[in-house]
Amino acid sequence: MILVTPEYHGSVSGVIKNALDLMSFDQLSGKVAGLVSILGGQSNSNALNDMRTILRWVHAWVIPEQIAIAQAWKALGADGKLQDAKLSERFDQLAQSLVENTQKLRPVA
Ligand SMILES: Cc1cc2nc3c(=O)[nH]c(=O)nc-3n(C[C@H](O)[C@H](O)[C@H](O)COP(=O)(O)O)c2cc1C
Repeated sequence: MILVTPEYHGSVSGVIKNALDLMSFDQLSGKVAGLVSILGGQSNSNALNDMRTILRWVHAWVIPEQIAIAQAWKALGADGKLQDAKLSERFDQLAQSLVENTQKLRPVA
């Protein structure tokens, strides 16, 4: 799964915290996750680090790759696509790592 949050006051949004609080081990334990945050300001890892801590608590596996989209107001074009090709490439890498790590953690049939 890929979890995305806006950064609100240096952390995750209340909405995603509430959604994660409504879930627990049954839904999240053993799941592999990639994290993305979206900020109005400069890129940082605050919300990502907090989300990583929350997911660790319910025994989800968070991959090391993560993306913070800075200055959201100019990151996306009118078509809703990312303007920065390098950032777009990082999404490809995150998706690739998510698939590879999910395969590694999946029990052999
Ligand atoms: C309550 C609130 C707190 C916010 N706190 C931060 C913040 O700590 N750092 C930051 O870069 N942007 C902050 N922002 C800006 C949002 O991260 C940014 O607007 C959002 O990612 C883009 O989504 P939007 O279309 O809902 O504004 C905040 C926005 C709101 C509404």
